[in-house]
Amino acid sequence: MIKLHDIDHVLMGVEDLDASTHQWEDEFGLTQVGREGRQSLLACNYENPSLILQQAAKPGIIHAAYQLAPGFSLDEAEKHLKEHRVQYTRSEAGVTFADLEGNGIQFVEYRPKQGQDKFPREWRQTTRNHRIGAPRRLGHVNYLTGDIHRQVDFYLNVVGMKLADKLGANAGAFLHIGADHHVMAFVNTGDAHFHHIAFDMLDWGQIRQSFDHLAQYGRVMPWGPVRHGIGGNLAGYVRLPEGDCFIELYCDMEQLDATHEPREYPDDRHSSNVWGLLPPRSYFRFDKESIEAERESLQSIWEKQPALLGD
Ligand SMILES: [Fe+2]
Repeated sequence: MIKLHDIDHVLMGVEDLDASTHQWEDEFGLTQVGREGRQSLLACNYENPSLILQQAAKPGIIHAAYQLAPGFSLDEAEKHLKEHRVQYTRSEAGVTFADLEGNGIQFVEYRPKQGQDKFPREWRQTTRNHRIGAPRRLGHVNYLTGDIHRQVDFYLNVVGMKLADKLGANAGAFLHIGADHHVMAFVNTGDAHFHHIAFDMLDWGQIRQSFDHLAQYGRVMPWGPVRHGIGGNLAGYVRLPEGDCFIELYCDMEQLDATHEPREYPDDRHSSNVWGLLPPRSYFRFDKESIEAERESLQSIWEKQPALLGD
């Protein structure tokens, strides 16, 4: 039986390693803490690297990596994948495989948080140039799927997550490892696609400051601010066209305890957004027209509706 500790990092392919590294530092406040060959290692405040950029011909998410529980070895992870007849590769970094829709997954060994000790992290002296207003940590990843039931089974039985909650019987599913309500989630749109990387922020004030900052860099927020009905987190989403995904900044996520039983929420806008609207349809698309529609807010201009609906 596989046992996980937490999400570890996301590996993202980028066209220009230097430019993307600077972009992530300037826009999202992460800090480059290492450079290894074709890879740039970026960290949130005080954390181990949680976003790894890799020079690649095709930009986009390559894998999401999860730490094994303390004492659980990569050899045991290999044995577990063999038992489930899952193809994998083993490298120095970890054990890498794919889910049923080709999304990359990596198991890495447990590693203590950087400088972890009994005092709050803020107590420590540091010479690292971490940025004021930076995300606290990588929180979760989210995927669109065309095969939700089999995918959820795969993440429960092969990857080793637990079901937190469901959106309707088959519209969405949220999976957790520890206390955070979800470390990954699926939305059933009929097609597989990586959707977003989510960073945990201190509070709404910090998120407000970050979205002001991102707007100045021309980032568009097609959905937000919202409070999710499922998971309870306050959130907003900016598009990252060059990464073929969105970035979520959130705070105040529901914390689950050991007695948690999965719940099924109605598939309506309240479950998605307590405060107001569902996302625009472009939020589930990654084509040029959708990106342009968001940039000009065409989905909110009445005269543009027939064209957007394909009439
Ligand atoms: Fe999310």
